[in-house]
This record gives sequence, C-alpha cells and structure tokens, in this order.
Amino acid sequence: MALATAAGTRPPLREVAGVPLPATTVDNWSQIQGFEAQPDDLLICTYPKSGTTWIQEIVDMIEQGGDVERCQRVTIQHRHPFLDWARPPQPSGSTYLQRPVLSTHSEGVDRAAAMPSPRVLRTHLPTQLLPPSFWENNCKFLYVARNAKDCMVSYFHFQRMNQTLPDPGTWEEYFETSVSGKVAWGSWFEHVKGWWEIRKKFQVLFLFYEDIKRNPKQEIQKVMQFMGKNLDGPVLDRIVQETSFEKMKANPMTNHSSAPKWILDQSISPFMRKGTVGDWKNHFTVAQKERFDEIYKQKMEGTSIHFCTEL
Ligand code: A3P
Repeated sequence: MALATAAGTRPPLREVAGVPLPATTVDNWSQIQGFEAQPDDLLICTYPKSGTTWIQEIVDMIEQGGDVERCQRVTIQHRHPFLDWARPPQPSGSTYLQRPVLSTHSEGVDRAAAMPSPRVLRTHLPTQLLPPSFWENNCKFLYVARNAKDCMVSYFHFQRMNQTLPDPGTWEEYFETSVSGKVAWGSWFEHVKGWWEIRKKFQVLFLFYEDIKRNPKQEIQKVMQFMGKNLDGPVLDRIVQETSFEKMKANPMTNHSSAPKWILDQSISPFMRKGTVGDWKNHFTVAQKERFDEIYKQKMEGTSIHFCTEL
C-alpha cells in the first residue's frame, strides 16, 4: 500500500510486512530476500542517520591497515554494497509523480555478488526483514545505534535534501510522521529494540554513535577486535584523526558530494551536516520533548538499552 507524502511530489514509500520502505526496494524485494550471505560476511547494520557512513569509513580504514590512500580508491557508497537500495530512475520532468516508479535492480545485491570474500556489506533493514541467509550462515553484524532524538533531527534534514524520499514537510509535521514510524525503514523503536534483543544470540557488536563521539579510539579498537585485526597504537590514532567529522566532511570520498543532485541535493542541507550529540535541543519544543519522552518510555519499556542524549 502506498503511503501519503507531505508534499506529494516525490515517490511515496511502500510497505513490506508493515515496514515502510522506498518503492524501488519493494520492487526488488524477492532479489533482496534471496540474497546469499557467506559465513565470512560482515554486515554493517543501522537505522538511517545513525552514523552509517562514519562506521563504514572506520571499518574500511581498519581493513586497509590505516592506509589513507587505499581508502580513497572509490567513494564510500561504492565500497560496501547497500543491499536494500535500488536506484530509482532519473526523473525527466520536474517531479517523480509524472513518471511511474520503474522496477530496476538492487545494485547492492548485484555488487555484493560480484565482490570477493571476505565481504563487508551494509543494510538498514530491521531484524525481521533481513535476508534469512545471514542468520543461517551465522554472519557477523556490526550495529550502530544513535539516540532517537538526534536521529529524528538528522533524518528530517536528510529527507529535505534526499529527493528519492518523501518530502518531510515542516518540522512539526515530520515529528508526527516520525513518532508514528511512517518513515523509510520504519520505526526507530522497533529497529533498535530488534537488534538489541538478538545481540547475544548472534555475533553482534552493538555500538553507540555517542560512544564513538566520546571515545573514538576505544570504540575503534572494539571494531578492530571484532574484525579479527590487530593494529598498533599509531595506526589507531591515524584512524581516529582520519575519521573525524571535519576530515570526513572535507573528503570527497566520504561526503557524498559525487551523488547526483536529483538524488542528494546538498544545496538544501549537506550530507555531513553537524555530526554532534544533542542537536535535538535546537529543534524539539518543550512540549515535543515531553511528549517524546513519554512515548519513548512506553515503547522502550522492558528493554535494558540505555542511550545518552548529550555529551
Ligand atoms: P547529522 O545530520 O546529525 O550531522 P548516516 O551515515 O547513517 O546517514 O548518518 C549521517 C549522520 O552521521 C549525519 O548526522 C552526519 O553528519 C553524521 N556523521 C557522519 N560522519 C561523521 C563523523 N565522522 N563524526 C560524527 N558524525 C558523523
């Protein structure tokens, strides 16, 4: 079923098992579900806007032994296949609704299939929608979670500039859309809870954006150990420096500046926007904060997960 968009000029989301997803993802759903994972795959898993690009660069820097030049070989979006994304066709007119959304192919699945092992892949899928072969092969999962309020703010600005996602409307409108989970890849609550709950049953390294911000070296070390690598102190220090927000914002291989404007219009909002903890305070009204805290309490009741919302 198609979901309404705020402005109605961009492709509407569709649903799989009640989870809203980009229409092109749904068009390619059987290909995505049938993806054949291999036992040595490492899957980077995130709810959108939780620091995916950041952890991708960290993982690649570790993989390349801290060699900055090797990390410059190709843009970040092409280093780790994004399994659940298929590029929509470029619109010829001013809006997407003038053209039907055509079925394409999941580039991520195609790229992954052509990649030598061991592969590093990425997804935004919640646990219940993950291709079953990942569980069957007991793959490693690297999950990064970010506090819900900053995620919402970051996603709002991302939807303003990402022309393939619904127009978010005003902040007030977006707040309602977001708390009801009617955004691409669904509810933050369900996503985070799902991955948190399975973390001990599978090989999951569960990290927090705020911890990486506070103590990058310590968190990078955890990733290194999880990947079975061993790098010395100076190399780790270099990785910390090279993956700072400022460095990644200035780096054309990580700042998504090569993405076409009809996909990411960075004149509206830059992809590397602020990279801070607590920007939600510049957006949430007092009433929204109180309402959100109440919803959070209800939705997260019974979980042991704890987030930090300011540093
Ligand atoms: P903001 O919009 O709050 O700035 P994703 O890659 O999952 O789409 O997440 C994007 C968010 O991560 C953006 O948040 C972006 O600025 C932030 N980010 C990317 N690289 C970062 C880094 N090196 N340090 C801190 N935040 C980073």
